[in-house]
Amino acid sequence: MSANDYYNAGKPQEGYGGQPQGGYYPPQGPPPGQGGYYPQQPQQSYQGGYGGPPPQGYGQPYQPQPPPQTVYIQVTRYTLPQFSSFSQKPALKMLSRLSAGAFKKAASVGATRSSTLLYGTRSASVRFASTNASSSTVESFMSSRATLASATLVSVGTIAWYTHLYGNLPFLPEAHASHLSDEGLHAPSYPWSHKGLLDTFDHASIRRGYQVYREVCAACHSLDRIAWRNLVGVSHTASEARAMAEEVEYTDGPNAEGEMFQRPGKLSDYLPGPYPNEEAARAGNGGALPPDLSLIVKARHGGADYIFALLTGYIDPPAGVEIREGMNYNPFFPGGAISMARVLFDGLVEYDDGTPATTSQMAKDVVTFLSWAAEPEHDERKKTGIKAVIIFSTLFALSVYVKRFKWGPIKNRKIFYNPPADKAH
Ligand code: HEC
Repeated sequence: MSANDYYNAGKPQEGYGGQPQGGYYPPQGPPPGQGGYYPQQPQQSYQGGYGGPPPQGYGQPYQPQPPPQTVYIQVTRYTLPQFSSFSQKPALKMLSRLSAGAFKKAASVGATRSSTLLYGTRSASVRFASTNASSSTVESFMSSRATLASATLVSVGTIAWYTHLYGNLPFLPEAHASHLSDEGLHAPSYPWSHKGLLDTFDHASIRRGYQVYREVCAACHSLDRIAWRNLVGVSHTASEARAMAEEVEYTDGPNAEGEMFQRPGKLSDYLPGPYPNEEAARAGNGGALPPDLSLIVKARHGGADYIFALLTGYIDPPAGVEIREGMNYNPFFPGGAISMARVLFDGLVEYDDGTPATTSQMAKDVVTFLSWAAEPEHDERKKTGIKAVIIFSTLFALSVYVKRFKWGPIKNRKIFYNPPADKAH
């Protein structure tokens, strides 16, 4: 089959003197003088084909020889899977086009190849080793499925986290049968000295806070999970803690006679509670149970901020709000009416270190103390966290280096492919 047959296939043959030429031989060229379909072909080759003696080369029609061609194939980085695999799924195809386009816009990489990429003809485009590596890396990063998947994961995760935190979907307002103040005023965010990613507790504040707890809160609240030994090295020295423990009588036993006995406290003893049992605690507080404060910072929405706001937030009930006998108005407490009265007043305690004992100072100190009580491992956790970040980022950097070192020659090689001249082309 010649090039001419190829080009004339399917065309009517009657333009050549009413002599239909059924076969492919002889080749059907344009009549003499009316040629020009293929002006690059020598006209004289065909002139004899219509009645004259067969010209030289009759049986071997004109064969345009393709010039020797060099095809460059380059293994590009992070090549997209061929879009053609999507051709049966228009919706998916649309999605992948959309996202690839959107990402590329966002990155505003001045890549001229983006349109070819977008319409799935990437395989046809020839790439050279000299292609700017960084732009193609960014481009393939921005159009990779992994990026699409992780971006989707981040958005879905953020929405899930928001929903978990606030109980409703973002951007969708909700109507409530009850007023929001029934759930308590949301506490402001305070600049705690231990709030930052790398911040540790203010231990002088923990020590003052312990004093406030001991002298004020301990009259009603227990702190079951803290032992005297836990204070050692945190807010007190070992001998200070031992001395404080020895002031308290603990029941121990049984002894050799089977009797329980009283003994002074040891470092291993836990801080004593004010009431022997829950009933006694309720009886002493008008039916309300003062909760154990060991984990209260973790147990309340808003944590430290909420407890500080609660301790300093006692005000007179606003007009129209009735507070029954024995209850107190606090806008931060859900429902507004709390059994605990305001307990902190300026000058209530006298700090060892001379810090003026204002209401807010005492509240801040006791909340710092309670934050430590709820999370004694806090400082150590952050220190370990930094170590982990240092180690893992170093390992990550090393592995990136090694990966590039190993893959560099493979990814930057250029493969030459010289196809054999195809006679049937
Ligand atoms: C006179 C006893 C008394 C003293 C002193 C006291 N509280 Fe309370 N506290 C209570 C009672 C009773 C409740 C339970 C309130 C309720 O459920 O209505 C309570 C509840 C709490 C709550 C929980 C609030 C909530 O959201 O459920 C916190 C936190 C708290 N107190 C912290 C403190 C701190 C800190 C101190 C010391 C500065 C302190 N209390 C001193 C009696 C007291």
